[in-house]
Amino acid sequence: MRPAIQIKNLNVTYDSIKVIDDFSCEVKENSVTAIVGPSGCGKSTLLRCLCRMNDHIESFHLAGKVLVKGEDIYHPDVDVYKLRKRVGLIYQKPCVFPKSILKNVLFGVKHIKEIDKKDYSEIAERVLKEVNLWEEVKDRLGNLATTLSMGQQQRLAMARTLAVEPEILLMDEPTSSLDPESTAVIESLIQKLKTHRTLLLVTHQPEQAEKVSDNLIFCNIIK
Ligand SMILES: Nc1ncnc2c1ncn2[C@@H]1O[C@H](COP(=O)(O)OP(=O)(O)OP(=O)(O)O)[C@@H](O)[C@H]1O
Ligand SMILES: [Mg+2]
Repeated sequence: MRPAIQIKNLNVTYDSIKVIDDFSCEVKENSVTAIVGPSGCGKSTLLRCLCRMNDHIESFHLAGKVLVKGEDIYHPDVDVYKLRKRVGLIYQKPCVFPKSILKNVLFGVKHIKEIDKKDYSEIAERVLKEVNLWEEVKDRLGNLATTLSMGQQQRLAMARTLAVEPEILLMDEPTSSLDPESTAVIESLIQKLKTHRTLLLVTHQPEQAEKVSDNLIFCNIIK
């Protein structure tokens, strides 16, 4: 079976500072790979390379190859917008828009497919239940998402990404702002999702890496 992700001799610099040095790996489809390592070693940079989220950074420079299902994602013909539907990123800090909770949930998915208005609430309920947020917001879906707590915003951002159903899900310390109950829900969600998705998870918690991952990538700071 073709790997979901192949990284070949990846080198990343911000101006003259090298952050990733000749890194290669393969990630199997429908698996969970945890990425661990000290702060500043380039874990978030690596995840962003997989969905081309560093492209706008002027000082960023990449060499080497990144293939998603065999396709070179840095080829000039690649439609970055389409790539990001296939490879979703959940950020370390919750990212919500100053719109209603419902609009936030549907924000991505509405852009990629025609959805009947009558299906909005069904999609919202499904993904909000998946991230353990439904009970807390079901009676105020029209309220501003920015009024939610940090942990709730993080689960909302996750729900928005899940609604798009990306093939590859990149999660950058997704549970760092969550309480133990929501953390457990997200950890079991990760296990459920890997039956039909490929997941990469950056975590600072070794026990979380051990609990949910099939493979581990250890990163270190370049000396
Ligand atoms: N936009 C940027 N411009 C310049 N340097 C950057 C930029 N983003 C990250 N860096 C630098 O690249 C290095 C790796 O940063 P990155 O955020 O990828 O680390 P990390 O492993 O995710 O750290 P943490 O565990 O603290 O989140 C750091 O030294 C950081 O200062
Ligand atoms: Mg980081």
